[in-house]
Amino acid sequence: METFDADWLAMREPVDHRSRAEGLIPRLVQAWQTRGWSRVLDLGSGTGSNLRYLAPRLPSGQTWVLVDHDPAHVRTLRGMARPERVQSLTVSPKNLAAQDLEEAADTDLVTASALLDLTSAGWLERVVTACVASDCGVLCALSYDGRIEWASGDEHPDDRFVRDAVNVHQTGDKGFGPALGPAGGQLAERRFRAAGYQTLFQESAWRLEVSQHRALVGRLIDGWEQAASAVRPAEVARIRGWADGRRAGVATGRSSLMVGHHDLLALPPARS
Ligand SMILES: C[S@@+](CC[C@H](N)C(=O)[O-])C[C@H]1O[C@@H](n2cnc3c(N)ncnc32)[C@H](O)[C@@H]1O
Repeated sequence: METFDADWLAMREPVDHRSRAEGLIPRLVQAWQTRGWSRVLDLGSGTGSNLRYLAPRLPSGQTWVLVDHDPAHVRTLRGMARPERVQSLTVSPKNLAAQDLEEAADTDLVTASALLDLTSAGWLERVVTACVASDCGVLCALSYDGRIEWASGDEHPDDRFVRDAVNVHQTGDKGFGPALGPAGGQLAERRFRAAGYQTLFQESAWRLEVSQHRALVGRLIDGWEQAASAVRPAEVARIRGWADGRRAGVATGRSSLMVGHHDLLALPPARS
């Protein structure tokens, strides 16, 4: 099972929240009010970051179902206080890869944050089918889009080599079959549009000043070193050299970094 420890999720949450495409929210709220929505299904909830972002931005009387397969996150979610505006909150400890999303039948909005890139084309197809059948809206936030860009003037000769290797690693199986990786956001946008949905697709890139996010950037570099080394084992020394150079840059705190993400809002056609 692919795990995401709670420390990592806590570290990224403020950056995730400030990076999300806030411009999608008025359109979502308008659809929510016009269509009388109240029920949200959050896939791969982790420790509840997506709930903490969305619940205060949606009208009161929401009911949420949070799904995650990690027992530690399920315990955290069960112990969590219900946010204001949320009337009921249910935690469902399930492996999303092993089921057909039957919960979508009782949902108005299917949402996920930082999940799409881990999933597969086959799984996305099942989600599109389930959402079309139940006529529900979709909000997929913070799908990694393959871009890792360091500040101009602070390039390392192996930035591109490492990023390309990381992006190959992104397409390895994360439990759903070969992962969509950086293609996930765009493919979901195309699939929902083809199904007759109105789609809005906006950037939600992380923009990180290293001096303010040393720990987070340090974790990213370590993770990228591991991922790149796993797919380019013959180049481990080269990748270590890159990572050591980047860690030295973090120590001086002068660099900045962009990690590309996109948010997708997909709204079903209005009922006649
Ligand atoms: C990158 S984390 C994002 C968590 C949370 N949505 C957030 O934005 O902080 C991905 C989450 O998906 C969950 N996940 C991954 N594969 C899953 C699966 N097959 N079934 C259920 N949950 C899964 C992980 O346990 C993890 O909590």
